[in-house]
Parts: sequence; C-alpha cells; structure tokens
Amino acid sequence: TLLIVDFGSQVTQLIARRLRELNVYCEIHPFQNVTDAVLDTMAPRAIILSGGPASVPDEGSPRPPHKVFGMGVPVLGICYGQQVMMQVLGGKVTRGDGTAEFGRAYVAPTDARLDLLEGWFDGGREQVWMSHGDHVSDIAPGFEVYATSPNAPYAITADAARQFYAVQFHPEVHHTPGGRKLLENFVRIAGFAGDWTMGAYRQEAIRQIRDQVGDRKVICGLSGGVDSSVAAVLIHEAIGDQLTCVFVDHGLLRLKEAEEVVGMFRDHYNIPLIHADESALFLGALEGVADPEVKRKTIGKLFIDVFQKYANRIEGAEFLAQGTLYPDVIESVSFSGGPSVTIKSHHNVGGLPEKMGLKLVEPLRELFKDEVRALGRELGLPDHFIARHPFPGPGLAIRCPGEITREKLEILRKADAVYIDQIRKHGLYDEIWQAFVAILPVRTVGVMGDGRTYDYACALRAVTSVDGMTADYYPFSHDFLGETATRIINEVKGINRVTYDVTSKPPGTIEWE
Ligand code: XMP
Repeated sequence: TLLIVDFGSQVTQLIARRLRELNVYCEIHPFQNVTDAVLDTMAPRAIILSGGPASVPDEGSPRPPHKVFGMGVPVLGICYGQQVMMQVLGGKVTRGDGTAEFGRAYVAPTDARLDLLEGWFDGGREQVWMSHGDHVSDIAPGFEVYATSPNAPYAITADAARQFYAVQFHPEVHHTPGGRKLLENFVRIAGFAGDWTMGAYRQEAIRQIRDQVGDRKVICGLSGGVDSSVAAVLIHEAIGDQLTCVFVDHGLLRLKEAEEVVGMFRDHYNIPLIHADESALFLGALEGVADPEVKRKTIGKLFIDVFQKYANRIEGAEFLAQGTLYPDVIESVSFSGGPSVTIKSHHNVGGLPEKMGLKLVEPLRELFKDEVRALGRELGLPDHFIARHPFPGPGLAIRCPGEITREKLEILRKADAVYIDQIRKHGLYDEIWQAFVAILPVRTVGVMGDGRTYDYACALRAVTSVDGMTADYYPFSHDFLGETATRIINEVKGINRVTYDVTSKPPGTIEWE
C-alpha cells in the first residue's frame, strides 16, 4: 500500500487518482487518524504527505507522526506536506510575506541528478502549479536543493540517501504537465510493480466479503443503477445465496426498467431478488402533491419504510450491502465547514443500517466511479448497462413538474424511450452525460391531419458534465432535434409539442425539480 496522509487539500483525491492510473494501490487517511499503531498495521511501502490549508508556523497546525520518517520508506511531501516535513525534520517555514505564489509557475533545475527527476527538465524548465502563501526558508539537515522557482527557492529538495522528497508545487494536478512522470518515478523508487488491476481487486474483495460475512445473511438494496448492481454481483460471487436483493419499485421508473432489472438479476445471475412493487403506495401518496421538495421528501421517507418492511422478511439478515464509493468515504479534513444551502434534498438510505441494527458491507468503498465500471466489466455485466446515464432516486417524479398522474407518467415513459432510442441510433449516447425527457404541466394547441389537438408539451434535456456539479447543454444538430420532435409527436399519443432545454448548470439544474 501507498499511504496518502491528508492535510485537507482540495486536490488530495487527485493524488490517489494519479496513483491508481499507475496501477498502484493507495489509501487516503486524514492526518488525525494516522497513528503509530495505524502505521504499524498498514506497513505502507511509501508515504505521501498532501497539501492543506493550514499554516505550519501556527500553533496547533497539523503534523504527521515522527514515525513516518522512521519507517525506512520513501516519503514525498507536497506543498503543505513539504513544509511540515521540513519543520519536523529540523528546517524552518516562514509565514507568507508577499512571496505567495498561486497558479502557473516555472521551476528550473539547480541539479537534475535526482532519481525523482528522471525525464524532467529535458527542455530546461518545467511548468508547475503552485498554491502557497508560506514557504520553506531553511531546509532540514541532509536535504539538498534540486530546483527553484522565482518565489520558491526550495521548489524541489530531497534527502536522497533517506529517500525523502519535497516539492512546493502540486504534481497531481493537470496544470503540472510533468506531474505524472514525477509520481511515476516516486512509485518506481518505492518499488511498486504497478500490477494493481481490477482482476486482483475482484479476488481480494471476494476474500474480504467472505471473511466479514462468514455464513451469515446479507440484504442489498438494488436500484438498477451501476453501483448497487456491481456491488450485488460481486457479493453474490463471494457468498452466493446468502445474499438477497430488494428492488423497490416506486412506479417512477422508465419504460421496461423494472422488467430489465428483475430479468437480469433474478433470471440471468440467479440472485435471489424481491421485487417490491409498491407503485400504488407511492403514487397514492404523491396524489395532489405539486411542490418539488414535498415530492422528494415523500418519496424518500416511503422508500425507507418500504425497504425496511421487505428487509424484515429476510430472516436472520445481519448485513446491509451498499454501493458506497470512495469519494463518499474519504473523511474530509474540514477546517471551516459551515452549513450549506439545500438546493434539493437528495434521496438516500443513510441512517437505515442503524435503525435496523445491520452492519454494512461496502465492497466498492475503495473505488472511484470509473473503476466501478471497470469492475462491472470484469464481472461480465453488459456494456450498455455499465455505461448507462445516471438516474435519480426519485425517478420520473422530478421529470414531471407539478402534479404527477399515471397518465402523464405513461406519456413521459414513451417519449423518453423514443428520445433515448434516437440518441443511441445517432451514436451520441456515450458523448452525453445525461439525457431525458420532462413532461411539462401545460397543454397546447396543435393540428394533426385535419384535426385540432390539445395535448401536453415536453422538453428534451441533454447535458455534458464531468461530475453533475456543473453542466452544459448538448449541441444537437437542428436535423437531429427536428427528426426527434417528429418521431415523438407521431409515436407518442398525448404529446403535440417538443422543446429543447438549452440551460446550463448553473444557473439551471440538470433535473427540472
Ligand atoms: P441536479 O438536478 O441537482 O442533478 O442538477 C445533478 C445530478 O444528480 C441527480 N439527482 C439525483 N440523484 N437522488 C439521486 O440519486 C436524487 O434525489 C437526485 N436528484 C438529482 C441528477 O439526475 C443529476 O445526475
């Protein structure tokens, strides 16, 4: 393992990403948790100290334990990690006095003969990304300078004999183009073979699930999404029919979605599955409800009740499986942490395990989203399933602004299916982050054949995004939009007008509610 000690930088996760790309297994732990005992158990083969917002000269600012430097393994300090390393090892850090550096900078070598710098400085200097107010004013005994930048005389220093390396800039970010090479050199120095693959992860995860669960029973809430599906298939591979899946069908799923999920898990994978068809319950509770937040809360609460009811029928279950991912797990090192505004209350099943007295099984908690997809492929889940667009927990409810009726849901399902079919046929599905139809709460007048129509209008939505936090509308060609509108109006009874939503996020959100 490579241990990343997190001091709270915004970009610590990127260090992990870069290392995973190099097929090196690493774990991020907040500095408070890295005790001597943890270091002994983990026995990391190398350690990286991350950046962070604190100031080393401040009393009480975070420090790594001394043991980090006494384990005989390579250590790399980045930004705050570099400064704290110097301080701990006998150097000095000075508070910012107008020598701050933010953004792009260039470092030039004073001595490029350092194993960490192989492949660096071939062009004389390297572009790096800096973000620091304080700076190292005295390097620790044993250290030498290898590169400088205009505002950081100690941009790269090292104690080569002890394999301690310290860089003032951030090699993990995109704006340090040679950063990957530097990290690659570091893991090579540490002796990593770069053989951490999904096949290895699968075997290891199966072993761990068996260890944890023994001969006891596990319940898994299946949503039809990628994360819970991959978790279910993996756990089933580990413990077979000790696993039961509960699929809560709230009646707000897309066309044929429930059949697909049931078909795939029950019939194809032979995983014991309870199809909790509670659409009547959910749609009943939503009758007459038009407020988006009330809708979300109603669905969220019912979902938990229903899940609990079905889970209670599985006698002797002691574990709840969840498709928690790494970004949800990393305990963030928060120095400020004020309340943030609720834009939309997200629906999740947090709090369930305590309420039901269940222990958690979370076999994906070390993976990033794209790694979950890779594991899904490794487990043989079909490609079209793995590459599916995200689908929100409250389902079609938030794509049907205003009051929900069965009639509107039926129309929406059909229109959405035509739209997605169009996108697939034009080979655009994988370019788009998320696409769907929203049925609008207005009816408009149209003419079809010789007759007047008075039907619903709908809006097409398609966005590009990386993480759903910001998004831009997808620039379809007018031909595509025209053809799709014609198809929807011809094939879906109940819609006579199609619009395209060209709002970005912000100021819009991706979903309509
Ligand atoms: P918004 O509409 O907030 O959506 O821009 C951002 C992303 O989150 C999804 N979304 C949800 N996912 N439960 C979920 O699991 C929810 O309650 C929920 N609300 C929005 C949305 O589909 C988009 O991908």
